[in-house]
Amino acid sequence: MYINTKHLGIALLAPSLVAANSMKTLLSKRDATTYEQNAVCTADQLLRSYGTVNTGLFGQDLWWQSGNFISALATFFQLDPNYGSIHNNIFATTLSEAPGYGNYANFLNGWYDDEGWWGNAFLDVYDYTSDSTYLNQAITIYNDIVGGLGTPCGGIWWDKDHTYVAAISNGLYTELAAGLANRAGGGSYLANAEANWNWFFSSGIVGSDNIVRDGLNSDDSCSLNGNVFTYNQGVILGAAAELYKATGNQTYLATAAALADASTASGSDLTSSSGILTEGCDKSASCDTTAEMFKGAYIRGLRKLQLVDPESNWLNYITANAQSLWNNDLSVQNVNGESECIVGSAWAGPFNSNQANAVTQGAALDALNAALAATQ
Ligand SMILES: *[C@@H]1O[C@H](CO)[C@@H](O)[C@H](O)[C@H]1NC(C)=O
Repeated sequence: MYINTKHLGIALLAPSLVAANSMKTLLSKRDATTYEQNAVCTADQLLRSYGTVNTGLFGQDLWWQSGNFISALATFFQLDPNYGSIHNNIFATTLSEAPGYGNYANFLNGWYDDEGWWGNAFLDVYDYTSDSTYLNQAITIYNDIVGGLGTPCGGIWWDKDHTYVAAISNGLYTELAAGLANRAGGGSYLANAEANWNWFFSSGIVGSDNIVRDGLNSDDSCSLNGNVFTYNQGVILGAAAELYKATGNQTYLATAAALADASTASGSDLTSSSGILTEGCDKSASCDTTAEMFKGAYIRGLRKLQLVDPESNWLNYITANAQSLWNNDLSVQNVNGESECIVGSAWAGPFNSNQANAVTQGAALDALNAALAATQ
């Protein structure tokens, strides 16, 4: 039986869950360097949106973003097992209940990027739980995504209507295929990951400036859509980390390092002059709940690269971003002796309450995960 604890309130929780109450966070002061405590407070706030509107998801109309949140939470639970042990029932609930949101049986819908977020999320849940149910769910999703191969531009389609060839779908597919090679083994996972990686870097999507562009227009001779978003740059870094683990081939790290260096450089397309990861829409406080997710995906990928190929520049970048969002883009509300940490979209600040929601909360957790993992 499924019980939505968020609707019951803390006073009605079963005794086994009362421990959650004793873990409640009260920040005595704002310290941007206490990554674990800051991540707890950030995750608490993200979890307040869990199941409030759509069972198994976070808030309203946040389908693929919820896959990102599941990734971030599974990663944080691994970094902080005590915290994870209080909340880890969410994974079974999401697995069984979330597909009801759009009647997306098995987390499959019309978009290969949506599927890729969930596929990679279930690998993160598998890493945390060691429960093969989640690995099998990732395999089911992967098998559907493979059906998106065969565009006139190479790679996989963005969508099942075959309208566009997006960098993001291809980055996520490459990461998922390589991730399955590392966890499930066998099959064509590694060969498909390598083939799609090689295509990605020969397709024109990655510029000579080592900045990833948005995709190729299949209805216009595969012309380049030159838009730049942080997530396209970050997901392929995670794919490189998985491919390196699967093969030991340093080429993946060298290629990814060039992309990481280009995008972490102050004043680059993706980073402010003061070294803070910035989505284009952050500059005008105009991000929507799509773009608000992107920086989380970027820094998740940089974390994965940093963990297999540590570089002091990237470590400094990760910690600078985790500290900046705490110092410049946070609103702390004290409610009944508990701190609620609400993080906005623009990590360089200022905090803007119109740009603060479950999505910005999830992206911030990715940044805090990265700082925690990279400094442990
Ligand atoms: C390493 O990977 C690159 C990129 O896919 C490939 O060109 C190269 O042949 C690989 N090297 C080895 C030793 O397999």
